Amino acid sequence: MNEVFNDLRFCIHTFGCQMNKHDSERVVGMLEALGAQQVSTIEEADVVVFMTCCVREAADVRLRGQVNSMKNVPVRAGSPTGRRHVAIGGCIGQRDGEALVRELPNVDVVFGTMNLASLPRLIADAIQKESAQVEVLDASLDFPTSLPSHREKNWSAWLPITIGCNNFCSYCIVPYVRGREKSRPLEDIRKEARGLVLAGAKEITLLGQNVNSYGRDLYGEARFADVLDAVHESGVRYLRFATSHPKDLNDQVIERIGSLERVAPALHLAVQSGSDRVLAAMNRRYTAEHYLGLVQKVRAARPDIALSTDIIVGFPGETEADFQATYDLVKEVGYTQVFTFIYSPREGTPAAKLPNDTPREVIQERFDRLRDLVECKAWEANRRDQDTDIEVLVESVNRKDAGAVSGRSPKNQNVHVALPADIDPASLVGSVVSAHVSDARPWFLRADYTGLVER
Ligand code: SAH
Ligand code: SF4
Ligand code: F3S
Repeated sequence: MNEVFNDLRFCIHTFGCQMNKHDSERVVGMLEALGAQQVSTIEEADVVVFMTCCVREAADVRLRGQVNSMKNVPVRAGSPTGRRHVAIGGCIGQRDGEALVRELPNVDVVFGTMNLASLPRLIADAIQKESAQVEVLDASLDFPTSLPSHREKNWSAWLPITIGCNNFCSYCIVPYVRGREKSRPLEDIRKEARGLVLAGAKEITLLGQNVNSYGRDLYGEARFADVLDAVHESGVRYLRFATSHPKDLNDQVIERIGSLERVAPALHLAVQSGSDRVLAAMNRRYTAEHYLGLVQKVRAARPDIALSTDIIVGFPGETEADFQATYDLVKEVGYTQVFTFIYSPREGTPAAKLPNDTPREVIQERFDRLRDLVECKAWEANRRDQDTDIEVLVESVNRKDAGAVSGRSPKNQNVHVALPADIDPASLVGSVVSAHVSDARPWFLRADYTGLVER
């Protein structure tokens, strides 16, 4: 099989959540290990891999447009394959399987979320046998951690602790395309965290659709607090995790958020709606009161914590009063960041069968109203950091100002840091610097460099 990959160039386009982004690192790692070379554009590539998302309709539509428009891109000079091969993986691959090949004749490989490891074989077969290869499994054989991974940066890493989801929120396709929740043994997580820190990781983000239910399948009880202890021991500077489901955020975890100093002061706690009626119809299994109780406990444990959330506007049957309850909750909590989505019916989910007769303009108006509030509250939260000293993990040279760098604060705020003229901005990427906040905006902070904390 290896000879197929020797002169092969591939590019990868990734949509959707961090799960997909992490899976893409493994795809790149596997193909590179076989000798293929990653390139950044379709024009240069012999194989184009799409890692797809179907959580909302827009992502579906976009993929089809992109695959179709590729037909017009000429094959690169010297391509060993003679024509460009297209592979579709991720959640649309998992959901649609064979049907994709029928619908999109220029697709050569379809794989799913449970069989990443098969991709090299499928690509080789598609090239050598000149026929489309489709392989989608219903369940993964084991936790896909043994695959090589190409990490884009050594200073920040994702560490999956669970895959899949058992929650079946009524609007959500994820449990159908990612399968049942599977946890990774605690000792594997501890070992990987240690290895990542030795390799230079300053930030580790634990990943799972619901990290708080970690361990139920393995240990019969949720043991996310133990994961936090184990990863904290690695000495990583910033420990983050996503996502937390409010129904499973327990007191032990809240205690760790307060007591483990390297757990970053940022919590993403998806609320989805502030109306109990809508929350019940969403099958979220908590009430607004329970959620607000959690917020209070978390703030008592960690007063500086920045809270962020996800909200769906326009769930079937959402009334003005339901929306108002969401609006009031957002106002009360004061999030630093809110990801707002307009409800998108997903075929096969229970909510897709509910009558949904709220006019589009009404939903759009609610969405806009909520977004204005979110901006106002985010600005209010950021203004509290005006004129304070913060740490910033530098991610890049600033796109607009070559004399500055951009990165994130422990609270996960975007920060643009102006540097003295004698510091080379590129040399700071991946370092932690200290900075003084000069200007707080709704979506970012401006700050002045005060020193290097850790290279
Ligand atoms: N497991 C994570 C979220 C995964 S999907 C969690 O529970 O927090 C990310 C977000 O997409 C969800 O939180 C939800 O707000 C949104 N989402 C999911 N399905 C959707 C749909 N059908 N329409 C609109 N937004 C949706
Ligand atoms: Fe979807 Fe709910 Fe699972 Fe999150 S917890 S992935 S919203 S089903
Ligand atoms: Fe999208 Fe799949 Fe993630 S549907 S949000 S890429 S789990």
